Amino acid sequence: MGLTLPTVPLPRTEFDIPSFSDEEIEAEAIRLQGAIQQHQRWPLETCRSIAPLTLEINRLKAVNDVFLIAHSYQTPDIIYGVADEVADSYTLSKAARDAPQQTILFSSVRFMAETAKIVSPHKTVLHPSPEAGCSLSDGITAQDVRDLRAQYPGVPVACYINTTAAVKAECDVSVTSSNYMRICERLPGDRLIFVPDRFMGAHLQKALAGKKEIIVFDGECEVHAVFTGDKVREWKQRIGENLSVLAHPECSAEVLEEADFIGSSEKLIHEAIRLGAEGQPDVMLITECGTAERVLAETEIELNLYGACVMCRHMKATQLEDILQALQEPRLDQIIEIDAGVIDRAQRNLDEMFRLAE
Ligand code: 13P
Ligand code: SF4
Repeated sequence: MGLTLPTVPLPRTEFDIPSFSDEEIEAEAIRLQGAIQQHQRWPLETCRSIAPLTLEINRLKAVNDVFLIAHSYQTPDIIYGVADEVADSYTLSKAARDAPQQTILFSSVRFMAETAKIVSPHKTVLHPSPEAGCSLSDGITAQDVRDLRAQYPGVPVACYINTTAAVKAECDVSVTSSNYMRICERLPGDRLIFVPDRFMGAHLQKALAGKKEIIVFDGECEVHAVFTGDKVREWKQRIGENLSVLAHPECSAEVLEEADFIGSSEKLIHEAIRLGAEGQPDVMLITECGTAERVLAETEIELNLYGACVMCRHMKATQLEDILQALQEPRLDQIIEIDAGVIDRAQRNLDEMFRLAE
């Protein structure tokens, strides 16, 4: 594999957990190593050191009836150690809405936990790392949307789901990386304001040219903005025509032009595995490193992953200790609270997404 993955997150603090027997820890370490499927990067010794944390988190989840959701960009110890559901942002927003548990712990960035609260306001939503933002959601305010509406009266506004609850409340519909094309195409009228991702907006402009004018905001994902068309072309030259390039739609137009497949984090994982199964093992995943880690864990099929992934510092801010602490005694800033009026308006926006996406 020609890919460098992030360092393994070892426990960073002393934690206060009841002692488990040596047998329980050994069995959990073996379970973790088997699920993570990267024996060199996650040796049994490392799995042993995190086993007390995953055992206690899973015990507390069961006792307190908590549903733990993790985005694909979380680290493998969270994904395979303690998560009940792992996927892209669209699937996770539905999982939060449909979970029967009254408490959801969302291991991810802030806007995703806020989305869970909007779709299930009666539930308690815990977010272990309140500081975990996102360059897209932090780059636009509700006032920015009101200003755009004033500048383009009557034009519908679609927002990428990577936005705060306050921004969603000002927009007509949210979209995600798995449905932005379908939803924007289906919206009425020949003009559309799209916020905040300028790259996804540019992709819409190109795909809908002649049918719809797309007015775009200027936000970007600090992770996907790192990739360049030149780098992709370099890899294509080096590996040859067998290389399949799979890119997330938060990448720039010049990167997307080089891509054989564009999709959400979940869709990229499925496509890489599908290509491997069809005897096309040379794959380049142009996205955050968590996507490659899930591919490695979730298939036995031989794949050659090329290129370099980029790590999202916001997504990687959460560690098992933060999850344990939020379950044991959540601080006020770890409990998602949103003004009832904002929830009401943002909920209409997300209901519209669910309606148009299906
Ligand atoms: P996905 O919905 O594709 O998982 O994307 C979320 C995200 O933040 C990607 O950077
Ligand atoms: Fe935001 Fe980019 Fe990180 Fe996704 S990868 S959470 S879009 S900064």
